[in-house]
Amino acid sequence: MPFYHKLGRIPPKRHTQFRKPDGSLYYEQLFGTIGFDGMSTNSYHEQRPTQVKAIKNQYSVAPKIAKANNIKSYRFKGFQVKPENDFLESRKTVLINSDCAIILAAPKQSTNSYFFKNTDADELIFIHKGTGKLRTMLGNLDFKYGDYLLIPRGIIYKIDFDTEDNRLFIVESRRPIYTPKRYRNWFGQLLEHAPFCERDIRRPEELETNNESGEFLIKVKKQDDIIEMVYASHPFDVVGYDGYNYPYAFSIHDFEPITGRIHQPPPVHQTFETDAFVVCSFVPRLYDYHPQSIPAPYNHSNIDSDEVLYYVDGDFMSRNDVEAGHISLHPAGIPHGPHPGATERSIGKTETEELAVMVDTFKPLMVTEEAMKIADDSYHTSWLD
Ligand SMILES: [Fe+2]
Repeated sequence: MPFYHKLGRIPPKRHTQFRKPDGSLYYEQLFGTIGFDGMSTNSYHEQRPTQVKAIKNQYSVAPKIAKANNIKSYRFKGFQVKPENDFLESRKTVLINSDCAIILAAPKQSTNSYFFKNTDADELIFIHKGTGKLRTMLGNLDFKYGDYLLIPRGIIYKIDFDTEDNRLFIVESRRPIYTPKRYRNWFGQLLEHAPFCERDIRRPEELETNNESGEFLIKVKKQDDIIEMVYASHPFDVVGYDGYNYPYAFSIHDFEPITGRIHQPPPVHQTFETDAFVVCSFVPRLYDYHPQSIPAPYNHSNIDSDEVLYYVDGDFMSRNDVEAGHISLHPAGIPHGPHPGATERSIGKTETEELAVMVDTFKPLMVTEEAMKIADDSYHTSWLD
């Protein structure tokens, strides 16, 4: 996150002696991104973070592709993804390209027996159902319905759920995920016209420090393999850190919508950006207030971006038959727009309760076999009268 955060105990000067009560040194780790050019964090550990004891199983979790070159619009019924006990096994990639993967998951159990580290991608986890606590080497974050959890690549974490009824919409991004640059000034501060500000971004305030030795299993994701690594020290042994690279939470309910007299384009809903896709939040808001306005969106053709909309809650004005948990995929190359009747129906409406997350990718998405299991195969003809 591009603003400074400090948690726990750190020495006054970086890269200097920082000693434990017994006189021995804490172990410093610079955790950087984009070489030494991106955001970084300096953390202080009870034990060396390098103590690999064993490397065990390695297996592929690369999704199987059903359609590599797709021009068909789809609707996927996300809640048909079956709940599974294990967090990692529950994650089903439905759409993917070389920049990102869009994943649905309904995990029933917390990650009790292992830690997880994704070295491939930043993870953006949207909490559709469930409450709990994200526990990381850099502190913990409580989460609930409507939260985006942003976990930068390489952060070791566990996730604790309060109940078995959880639904997650996850974007794995091989490109760093930031807040949009146009919302920030040249120092990185969020500007007055941004739809959220620093107060809305929840940083870790609770740091777990374990000084245990033993055998600690970290499942490491690298190049679509899971590699099971056993470490000799507890991964959550940080006594303090500071810097810019840490996990954070932002609630979609804290996104302040931007409205206008006539229909506002999707970029007003933008919440996150990468150089390969954007993430937008569609939240309850007043409709356009020009006396002749048409609140429903016009037909549009983003000729060079695939548009993925994940429906969270409320009534979706532009569609006749979508439900919570559905995903629509409107691929690049062809136009899409409101369903028959939706344009007329929208006139005179003053507000919407819709809640949705949109991911627009600049490269085409491939459709996976997991997606085809929950696909509505006739959706592409749903604009016919
Ligand atoms: Fe669209």
